[in-house]
Amino acid sequence: MGGKPSFPVQPLPDDRIFVVTGGNAGIGYEMAKWCAMMGGKVVIACRSEVRARKAIEKMQEEFQSEKGKGTKGLTENPKLAVEFMELDLASFTSVLKFCDEFRKSGRKLHVLCCNAGICYSHGRKTEDGFEMMLQVNYLGHFVIIAKLLSTMRASGQDCRVIFTSSIAHDSGIFDLNTLQYDEKFEKHPELEYYSRSKLYQVMQTYEMARRFKDSNITFNSLHPGLVDTEIFNEAESCFDRCCIGCVRKIGAMRTSLEGATTGIELATNPKQKGVSGYYWVDCKQTMSSSTSRDAERQKELWDKTLELIQQYLTDAEKTGLEGK
Ligand SMILES: NC(=O)c1ccc[n+]([C@@H]2O[C@H](COP(=O)([O-])OP(=O)(O)OC[C@H]3O[C@@H](n4cnc5c(N)ncnc54)[C@H](OP(=O)(O)O)[C@@H]3O)[C@@H](O)[C@H]2O)c1
Repeated sequence: MGGKPSFPVQPLPDDRIFVVTGGNAGIGYEMAKWCAMMGGKVVIACRSEVRARKAIEKMQEEFQSEKGKGTKGLTENPKLAVEFMELDLASFTSVLKFCDEFRKSGRKLHVLCCNAGICYSHGRKTEDGFEMMLQVNYLGHFVIIAKLLSTMRASGQDCRVIFTSSIAHDSGIFDLNTLQYDEKFEKHPELEYYSRSKLYQVMQTYEMARRFKDSNITFNSLHPGLVDTEIFNEAESCFDRCCIGCVRKIGAMRTSLEGATTGIELATNPKQKGVSGYYWVDCKQTMSSSTSRDAERQKELWDKTLELIQQYLTDAEKTGLEGK
């Protein structure tokens, strides 16, 4: 994986519980591994059990070699506490099942890393009728937060929600009339829809931070940099493949660990307790796009989102989102 982490490695209380969506690969893998190596109990919420179990095995091996290197601040436990739970963000049935099982397990939840994502959907729709990127990157995570908010609110001080967003949010067009991809468009504007899903995550960060100001939960979003992960494997056009190949060749991409650094800092550093409502790049609070900071539009997006997902939420969960 390469690269020295620039976040402080320090033991965490071993009752601290993390959920990392997409924790089996790329940025999420490194976030999950380092949270666990510092002593957290980590659930990786993934769509493939096989890939998740392989990832856990690899984490255990890398933990042993990190100990072998004499890295300070690692947990003294002999093995990492990482578990798999099934979650397919492209299916609300799966999202509801995941949330239900998590709640039934009686676990607390201190840190929720909304990390899983895709940047190509090739115009596909989900079984629930939404444009794939919109549901996987944005709506699916929104429903998880709505359903697990009460668990987080009852988990004691210093709970955190972190969104792995993207600088691509900057070019996201805010247009609630075309929130959904419509088959009548001849070509699915892939990057445009990716940017929108990431814009909505940043806007959600601000709206949630405002609603839950003075609560025990903080909300932050981040851009991880351009990171060499599997997310680009689904690129279809020659142009995209060629661009990615060139960027890779000149070494302009970050490793997954480098990409995960800001997320790990936000998830684990005690110094970030109570810090809420920011967009982060390279572990620094950074100005996000002017559209994303528009409070009126954040509210409009919030209302539209609730309209889209209301059938998946109970009245208590809807009330919980009001932040009172
Ligand atoms: N890489 C970059 O340059 C970059 C830049 C800006 C932002 N980001 C953001 O960083 C986040 C992590 O991406 P990455 O670069 O680490 O890519 P990655 O290696 O492809 O990891 C993406 C993760 O999301 C999971 N995932 C995809 N669809 C899912 C679904 N329907 N349900 C549940 N999990 C699903 C993947 O699971 P599978 O293994 O099963 O596919 C994988 O674990 C994404 O939100 C991405 O938008 C990445």
